[in-house]
Amino acid sequence: MDRFYITTPIYYVNDVPHLGHAYCTVNADALARWHRLIGDETLFLTGTDEHGAKVADSAALNGVTPGEWTDRTSSRFQEAWKGLEISNDDFLRTTEARHSATVQDFLQKIYDNGFIRIDKYKGLYCVGCEDYYTEDQLNSGNCPVHGRPVVEMEEDNYFFELSKFEDRLIEWYEKNPTAIRPGTKRNEALSFIKGGLKDVSITRTSLTWGIPVPWDERHVFYVWYDALINYLTALGYGSENNEVAKWWPHVHHLIGKEIIRFHCVWWPAMCMAAGVEPPANIFVHGWLLVGGQKLSKSMASEDTGPVKLTEITPASLTEDFGIDAVRYHLLRDVPLGTDGEFSIEGMTLRYNADLANNLGNLVSRVATVVGSKCGGIAPSPDEHSPLAAAARDAVTESGEAWERFAPHEALEATWRLIGAANAELERTEPWKAEAGSVDDVLGSAVEAVRIVTILASPALPAICAEIWRRFGFAGTLQNQHLPADGLWGAGQGGQSVEKGEPLFPRRTSGS
Ligand code: MSP
Repeated sequence: MDRFYITTPIYYVNDVPHLGHAYCTVNADALARWHRLIGDETLFLTGTDEHGAKVADSAALNGVTPGEWTDRTSSRFQEAWKGLEISNDDFLRTTEARHSATVQDFLQKIYDNGFIRIDKYKGLYCVGCEDYYTEDQLNSGNCPVHGRPVVEMEEDNYFFELSKFEDRLIEWYEKNPTAIRPGTKRNEALSFIKGGLKDVSITRTSLTWGIPVPWDERHVFYVWYDALINYLTALGYGSENNEVAKWWPHVHHLIGKEIIRFHCVWWPAMCMAAGVEPPANIFVHGWLLVGGQKLSKSMASEDTGPVKLTEITPASLTEDFGIDAVRYHLLRDVPLGTDGEFSIEGMTLRYNADLANNLGNLVSRVATVVGSKCGGIAPSPDEHSPLAAAARDAVTESGEAWERFAPHEALEATWRLIGAANAELERTEPWKAEAGSVDDVLGSAVEAVRIVTILASPALPAICAEIWRRFGFAGTLQNQHLPADGLWGAGQGGQSVEKGEPLFPRRTSGS
């Protein structure tokens, strides 16, 4: 048994959760579920990033204190994740006492180790990014991410001596060639490091909504410095329940491509400065786009054409298509590592093709024919069925794909088994045969459904639990583990199979 610790970035609470956030969280969830399925001891962390100027500004705009604002907005994320069947083991809010304790402890260590100094800071700041930019990084004077004007700021700041870590970071990434995936993102981080690192300002005096600097209480930590440490807070770093040694070597950070510099440059250097091994697995995903643009909060109030972005919240989509269908679309249609377009039309096509036609059809056909030809009792599988090899391939190939952080390929492999099972039924046409003469074919079809249900469960947890119940498979779906329960013949038949309503009623576009 292995361990698997997976994290999402912690989300800013300046607005409501949108589909871009859901994309990352659903992928992390499916990966966590897969690892539980293969018997790994798994820890899945997500949470909210609640300090900084952006949040303080949003609270002021809404006429409430930052504390009231973050209570309200953080709970929206927790609700959104419940609404998507997210199985996180912990939800960390950076305003929790356990987090400030860890942050103060961790940064005090960096200070004591001599990597923090005080200096004046003057720069061009984007409140949207909570980050400074140099002139040449701007787009006609505007922030390259938000397209809004930056403001000039000057303050007394403590600086983290990032410049001292250039060589150590290069050495770390050379020794750990898969620490950042995909390779293109590794190259991006490495060329940034090789381009020369400047020390970074890590505290603010212009703001009170943050974690106080333990050696100088006039300052609070800059939000990114406090936020990154969340990954260690959840492990009880510096506390009595310290589980860093247990989990940290198994950490996997799933992050979006615009926060590479923070996670792949700053964070490993901070770890080195505090005497902690840098994270060994960072996977960078692309953006979910609508009409070619990044779906984001700042766009959420604009009408950008035929689809109003504000209307496609995760909750409105799940209400319309069902939770698992939304999860499936996010996992299947936007491969981790590249950008992908979201549209209601694309979602509808995928729903009809893969869910209604392939999976839904297989399940209802098998249940119906077992009802009419076998008295509703599942026969046992045929060990010589061509589906046995198809099932073996699906288990192996999907396992390899999840391992590579390629949920879309894992699902493709699973759907190949669904396709093979449907084709086998069409070839043998058991519905036309005499009762009793097609037990082998139907027993094998039931066995294929069992294995498909296990393999698809990280993506479609609720639907798969329902299929498991209808087919009367032994034990609970949650207690199935691979490889043993994925073997052909691990299901022996003999149980009653119930028909039930269609799992995925067909849809017309936009309906
Ligand atoms: N609070 C910081 C992260 C701190 S982690 C120590 C932050 N928050 S964020 O809410 O702006 O973004 C969180 C994550 O959501 C990022 O990884 C970002 O890439 C992701 N997404 C936001 N919009 C997205 C899309 N449209 N598509 C896919 N993911 C995107 O940055």
